[in-house]
Amino acid sequence: MKSSAVSSLLRAAAHAGAGLVLSGLLPGVVLAATPAAAFKPDPAKGQQLAAPCMACHLADGNRGSPANPILAGQHPEYIVKQLTEYKSGKRKNAIMQGMAAPLSTEDMRHIAAFYASKQAKPGFARNKDTVLLGEQIYRGGIAGRQVPACAGCHAPNGAGIPAQYPRLSGQHAEYTEAQMLAFRSGARGNNVQMSTIASRMTDAEIKAVSDYIAGLR
Ligand code: HEC
Ligand code: HEC
Repeated sequence: MKSSAVSSLLRAAAHAGAGLVLSGLLPGVVLAATPAAAFKPDPAKGQQLAAPCMACHLADGNRGSPANPILAGQHPEYIVKQLTEYKSGKRKNAIMQGMAAPLSTEDMRHIAAFYASKQAKPGFARNKDTVLLGEQIYRGGIAGRQVPACAGCHAPNGAGIPAQYPRLSGQHAEYTEAQMLAFRSGARGNNVQMSTIASRMTDAEIKAVSDYIAGLR
């Protein structure tokens, strides 16, 4: 429909002998990039803005209660994406929606720069009976069920691949497990890839890989 609209525009333009002028009206050709005012995320500013976050995410985004994700060392683009989606309701969480609501995109970028600048403290896998299964899934996926290796997107050491693929290593197993279950049930609906992957995994597989990830470094 779009292309037929474009071609009828072009036909009209050719007819009017005004092709050069009209080409400026076509979608995608219209806007020369308006130079954005130089913006530089400032971790110090981010630290001030993160004051209300510290009750749950601690002073530097590190290991607090297992329900609250570790943010230290996370890629800034991923943090900004999550805050934007909590604010819009695309990722649903009542607490985080309230926390993100007052933040502008610039605030989010400052905060993300702050947490990204912090070093994550290492964690540990706790269940030695499932570590091997967790490792197999993380490194090799699940053959026959089209579950790809987590390492393919989140990197062999769990550091993720900026900007799209978040860091997972050292994350609380409880949080990782809860997110996998939420992707699977649709309660977290902000990423199709992860929902598809989680939908092919059993509870036991999710638990095993989550525990393994907690000890990755
Ligand atoms: C009352 C506790 C609490 C406070 C205060 C809080 N958070 Fe959270 N935060 C959570 C919980 C719980 C989650 C996980 C929610 C979910 O399951 O989606 C979360 C998730 C996040 C995530 C997603 C992390 C990920 O790995 O996907 C980001 C980013 C985040 N919070 C940033 C912030 C920022 C920035 C603030 C302050 C403006 C803040 N939080 C304040 C409890 C809190
Ligand atoms: C094809 C690439 C890909 C593969 C393979 C993949 N992931 Fe992901 N994963 C993503 C992307 C992209 C996101 C970010 C989603 C978003 O933007 O909200 C993500 C997010 C996550 C999160 C949420 C992190 C957080 O802080 O909330 C968890 C947990 C996760 N993945 C676990 C896994 C596990 C476990 C596996 C292997 C079974 C896996 N992923 C395989 C692409 C992938």
